[in-house]
Amino acid sequence: MQVITTKAEMRRLVRTARAYRSAQEASRATHASGAGGSSRADGVEPGPAVVGLVPTMGFLHEGHLSLARRARSECDLVVMSVFVNPTQFGPEEDLESYPRDLGRDVAVAEEAGVDVVFHPSAAEMYAPGHATWVDVEGLTEHLCGASRPGHFRGVTTVVSKLFAVCEPDRAYFGSKDAQQALVIRRMARDLDQAVEVIVCPTMRESDGLAMSSRNAYLTPAERAQAPVLRRALVEAEVSISGGERDPRVVVAAVVGRLAEAPSASVDYVEVVSTTDLRPTDRIDGEVLVAAAIRLGATRLIDNVVVSPPG
Ligand code: PAJ
Repeated sequence: MQVITTKAEMRRLVRTARAYRSAQEASRATHASGAGGSSRADGVEPGPAVVGLVPTMGFLHEGHLSLARRARSECDLVVMSVFVNPTQFGPEEDLESYPRDLGRDVAVAEEAGVDVVFHPSAAEMYAPGHATWVDVEGLTEHLCGASRPGHFRGVTTVVSKLFAVCEPDRAYFGSKDAQQALVIRRMARDLDQAVEVIVCPTMRESDGLAMSSRNAYLTPAERAQAPVLRRALVEAEVSISGGERDPRVVVAAVVGRLAEAPSASVDYVEVVSTTDLRPTDRIDGEVLVAAAIRLGATRLIDNVVVSPPG
């Protein structure tokens, strides 16, 4: 396992891996052509090396590692970035206190099959006078964007930079951050970034709480209340699957359930279209029910995707 801290070295490693695999391929192709076929006794698929990127802010949990394992099963070179990106935190947010443990991250990433951890400093990622931003309009103003102004601009800018440095063929994101995944997919499409954005299922604790690095902030009393978010969303799923078509009824039921947790305050509960994240008046296609709550000082998000019957 290598830990790389500079963009130049990271770029060089990816390009070398690709070129090396290509050279192997070229040599194999030459030899195979004499034998009149492309039989692969070594089981290696022909073609250039496939590079997978798993962007993270570290303090890894099973959610992150599930993305790494998926990348391992589909790619030749698996790069995981561990970078607490300052530009996606608001001035009042938890940039300073965000949990960090690089030693453990590297160990568990290696176990999950990661080849390289990219761990740049903020100064390495952002040159002095950095002035260029990527902004995905229309998808980023509501839901998490409403309570975290500037957040998605920071995410899309850093992910674009990671794409530029690591040149991945595939990049892996979690559906726990459904809005983020959709925003990144749109960005890649709109900017012709030659990367396939792959969105993977949410990993959960046994009581349903979505895994998150921020769960480490919860006090024992808050942690005991946290599963209410998942419970409320599963109830919304059951109600829509059972034929409820009015998003207001669904939202009111979720808010009601969340109110049962004494330390919880609702940031948002919304029923939106899965394609453009616009609020719906009536549920007649696949919808995303997304919610964010605060439990004490900790902000938690979760969601379900559900289609009405018929
Ligand atoms: P971070 O919160 O560290 O999450 C990194 C990736 O792991 C994201 O794609 C996120 O959706 C995914 N993830 C988090 N919890 C998960 C869970 N319980 N199950 C499955 N996947 C999960 O999201 C970020 O970092 C940053 O915004 C980043 C994209 C790295 C840009 O800085």
